[in-house]
Amino acid sequence: MTLLRDHDLARAFDHASGAYDRLTALNPGYRAELLRSARRLRLPRDGEGLRVLDLGCGTGASTRALLRAAPRARITAVDASAGMLRRALEKRWPRQVRFLHRTAEETAADDGGPYDAVFAAYLFRNVTDPDQVLGTVRSSLLRPGGRLAVHEYSLSGSAVHRALWRAVCDGVIVPMGSLTGARALYRHLGHSVLGFDTAPAFTDRLARAGFTEVTALPVAGWQTGIVHTFLARNGSSARPEEAR
Ligand SMILES: C[S@@+](CC[C@H](N)C(=O)[O-])C[C@H]1O[C@@H](n2cnc3c(N)ncnc32)[C@H](O)[C@@H]1O
Repeated sequence: MTLLRDHDLARAFDHASGAYDRLTALNPGYRAELLRSARRLRLPRDGEGLRVLDLGCGTGASTRALLRAAPRARITAVDASAGMLRRALEKRWPRQVRFLHRTAEETAADDGGPYDAVFAAYLFRNVTDPDQVLGTVRSSLLRPGGRLAVHEYSLSGSAVHRALWRAVCDGVIVPMGSLTGARALYRHLGHSVLGFDTAPAFTDRLARAGFTEVTALPVAGWQTGIVHTFLARNGSSARPEEAR
């Protein structure tokens, strides 16, 4: 099983960036489920001045979900792929959204943090050392009491969901990726999901990294048991109203 990492992965996303939005539009529920996960952060809609980080923002689909969940938040969106960021920047954004060309590993609190919330959609399966990135999120990117939402392909652990994922990859995802010339990236997608933590294992990983209030929630539609939203907090709630 060959997985793409670091520069090779960024190059593969650069190459696929032109077709990326068209391909995700074919995935039923892609945007709706991102929005569901962003809303699960329970950010206040009137949260002016709230600072939110989108790690691995790609062409901005997850950034748009955050903006819909918290229309007044100041959002910093970072990605390792210049090509994906270029596509994001072609779209219209309000002034409080900014995009930075950074890897998750390089992102530092002085890039606009510390943040009230961090959102990472389809990122952790792709990083070389998820524990290191989780450690950085907790120790320097999130404020005490801040919340993390990870939206990720992470199988439930049931053989049925694993078989369904294999069938969707072999029958739909890899053939469609091949049509757009991005076969390597879509093969990576298939393999990386099979090799990544199951939902219970990623929940344990978050707890081991020191996060509290860790939960895994399913999404709807065909991705039930295949994609989860993971929610976690950095320590205890620092704001009394959030403790309720
Ligand atoms: C599958 S896309 C998801 C994009 C977006 N979050 C969305 O939901 O549509 C994954 C993104 O993560 C980025 N990525 C992968 N590894 C990264 C890393 N170590 N640091 C920052 N971005 C990374 C890729 O360049 C790609 O744009």
